[in-house]
Amino acid sequence: MNLKKEFIDYFVKNGHVEIPSAPLIPENDPSVLFNTAGMQPLIPYLMGKAHPLGKRLCDYQKCVRLTDLDSIGDKTHHTFFEMLGNWSLGDYFKKESINYSFEFLTKVLNISIERLAVTVFEGNGDIPRDEVSASIWESLGIKKERIAYLGVEDNFWIAGETGPCGGDTEIFYFRSNEEIPEVFDPKDNRWVEIWNNVFMEFNKDENGKITELPQKNVDTGMGLERVVAVLEDKTDNYETSIWKEIIAKIEEISGKPYKGNEVSMRIIADHIRTAVFISADNAGIKPSNTDQGYILRRLIRRAIRHAKKLGIDTNTDWMEGIALEVIKKYEDYYEEIKNNQKVVLEVLKNEGIKFNRTLEKGLKEFDKLLKNIKGNTIDKDLAFKLYDTYGFPIELTEEMAKEKGLKVDTLGFKEKFKAHQELSRTSSQGKFKGGLASQGIIETKYHTATHLLNAALKVVVGPNVHQKGSNITSERMRFDFSCDHKLTEEEKRQTEELVNKWIIDDIPVTMETMPKEEAVSSGAEAMFIEKYADIVNVYSIGDVSKEICGGPHVKRTGELGKFKIIKEEASSAGVRRIKAILE
Ligand code: ALA
Repeated sequence: MNLKKEFIDYFVKNGHVEIPSAPLIPENDPSVLFNTAGMQPLIPYLMGKAHPLGKRLCDYQKCVRLTDLDSIGDKTHHTFFEMLGNWSLGDYFKKESINYSFEFLTKVLNISIERLAVTVFEGNGDIPRDEVSASIWESLGIKKERIAYLGVEDNFWIAGETGPCGGDTEIFYFRSNEEIPEVFDPKDNRWVEIWNNVFMEFNKDENGKITELPQKNVDTGMGLERVVAVLEDKTDNYETSIWKEIIAKIEEISGKPYKGNEVSMRIIADHIRTAVFISADNAGIKPSNTDQGYILRRLIRRAIRHAKKLGIDTNTDWMEGIALEVIKKYEDYYEEIKNNQKVVLEVLKNEGIKFNRTLEKGLKEFDKLLKNIKGNTIDKDLAFKLYDTYGFPIELTEEMAKEKGLKVDTLGFKEKFKAHQELSRTSSQGKFKGGLASQGIIETKYHTATHLLNAALKVVVGPNVHQKGSNITSERMRFDFSCDHKLTEEEKRQTEELVNKWIIDDIPVTMETMPKEEAVSSGAEAMFIEKYADIVNVYSIGDVSKEICGGPHVKRTGELGKFKIIKEEASSAGVRRIKAILE
């Protein structure tokens, strides 16, 4: 059965218009690296804008989620996946949505109602318990014991922390040969979630305030890989028809059979598929050390390391055969996969050649270290050498260390990394300073503190942090930056400590005036570089920070006082916001 086709046919028959999958790299949203859900390109329409194709839409959407990167290698997670979705933009609501899902699962896919269970939203504050959805499910024959009410954590859906959102009802399938329990226990992992129907009737703003949207929407998402596993009665996604030829190719190249425990084979299959999709995107992403390019590099290099583990001769163009299987599988669905085949193969080949030049030596260096190591931590100098001389992404070094029961001084690495950052690379990183100029002494202090916070976040969180906005009052500073996760307590603590360390170091702040081009090539950061005049001011704080900026700034960091983060929250999708004060 062709699940994508069945899904689209069913919803088109029910008045929906099929929309094409949006590009994997969002076109108009620099704040997120990849599309993570089918609803993401539809946000303006969920908020009330009229969609040119009407109020009922359906599609299959390419998604990449990196939060699960560490789980890749298990049998159910993938970095790239396809999400089947149907939407009502202010048209039908709970009753029709649940009816459609139920009919599709039980009549089109012929899934037995006995194997199904659902969760519904138990309510929160002013939002009532969703008895409506529960009674619709009951009217369709789902028994009371198979309906569980869960709270905000499980049954209230939002992409990131702000935007359209609402309670949801999730459909579960009993994926086991054991006897099906009468009573549904959502914590029992033999029940797997296969479909999520979100009733998007609210908007959450940056202060966490929830208001009603102008219209009541439905946003659904069904994980294709998972449902195919259900339909083909497999507990290992990699044993389904989706992966069959890809895994077979890896078996052929490595000369080893896939029996179910070969983590390296799953990592290679998953990562090469994702690398094919990223490099085929019309955005023209190439392996690099920033943003999507860095993710692409990490995926390819990790796949290469696992190929070596499997005994594949990585000096050959071994990735090509696997990539061609991926291309064959998807080219009829996604134009760019067909059109950009040559580019994809070149990207894989070139990155393979590049990493192979140093991989062997890097691995030897790593082994040498294992023999001589005292304690259980790989120090920052070796981690940096592996990165700088041998091209090992830090995450790869961490993975190799973990396999040997060791840790890596990642924070130390990041500090070192920051100090050695290629100048040309920083020039592409963002800054917007023009609108900041403020006069008072306290504002001036916050202005300098903003540069320090930006620099500290790059060390603690990662080089992919870019400034997305800034606002200063005499009470506080506010700083928006690209980041795909809520900062941990540890990250916040380290950021504060680093800023305060630089303040205690009493570093001089200096200013030079130079032509814009010279500023950029000297590594000064700037956002919207085209907006600046031809001659710009470049402020440096020792070697901690260098930015094109209108100023004003303090003379030395020692003037700032104590820096304290008072709030860390979401600003918009993929953008976090820090509010901080100087005491
Ligand atoms: N947007 C919802 C999800 O991703 C359907 O689960």
